[in-house]
Amino acid sequence: MPLLELHRVTKRFGGIVAVDNVSLEIDEGDAIGIVGPNGSGKTTLYNLISGVYFPDNGRIIFDGKDITFLPAHERTPLGLARTFQIPRPFGSASVRENVAIGAMFGRAKLDVESALDIADHYLSIVGIEKLAEKEAKLLTPLEKRFMELARALAMKPKLLLLDEVMAGMNPADVDRIIEVIRRVKDEERIAVVSMVEHLMHAITRFAERVVVMHQGKKLVEGKTLDVLNDPRVVEIYLGKRVV
Ligand SMILES: Nc1ncnc2c1ncn2[C@@H]1O[C@H](COP(=O)(O)OP(=O)(O)OP(=O)(O)O)[C@@H](O)[C@H]1O
Ligand SMILES: [Mg+2]
Repeated sequence: MPLLELHRVTKRFGGIVAVDNVSLEIDEGDAIGIVGPNGSGKTTLYNLISGVYFPDNGRIIFDGKDITFLPAHERTPLGLARTFQIPRPFGSASVRENVAIGAMFGRAKLDVESALDIADHYLSIVGIEKLAEKEAKLLTPLEKRFMELARALAMKPKLLLLDEVMAGMNPADVDRIIEVIRRVKDEERIAVVSMVEHLMHAITRFAERVVVMHQGKKLVEGKTLDVLNDPRVVEIYLGKRVV
């Protein structure tokens, strides 16, 4: 049984069909990249999976449960976590506390001490243990994104949706994120879906499968290198070779 199944999902905004009859399956431990030109429906697809919007048609099944119309906050405890492009942490709490709150949110009946231990574990996996005692509001936007990743991982999700987590990062930071994704995928079997708009070269290094969106539809899906060299994909990226 796949971890996540989208069955012919459609979302309209007025006359615009933002997501058009998309079906998709994601398995435990998958590493998937979602790409596509501006306005192709990537963010809407994320919003449907995470429960920000409900579809007009179609069904979404997560871990065997129909979540099509389940509110976002009820999806998180099922094991569905996402990061946001603009994180909103608890500003006056420390980085460690913010990540511990994530751990407590994702697991029932976790005591504070254990949550803080889990926080320390993920701070070190993400490589921001030095920031542990800092107030979250004092972090740079980039540091906040690393904290956001640690917080999402501490929830112990089965599926993690990353929203452009690598955008604006230098190559060393991108390497670190890719290393983290690989590690949690292999060690904890977390399925990771990453939306990568501006870093096509990074996608070949962590995604095993790529889904290309175009005008709301799933244009192509398959193994990363095959997809990025598919003539239809090359064409929508202005006739340039993607990798
Ligand atoms: N809340 C909304 N209200 C109206 N139209 C919307 C809304 N959200 C998205 N759209 C429209 O749906 C289509 C798909 O948008 P979406 O944001 O999902 O694309 P995207 O692939 O994430 O684009 P980008 O690369 O620019 O982030 C676009 O035509 C967009 O204008
Ligand atoms: Mg978008």
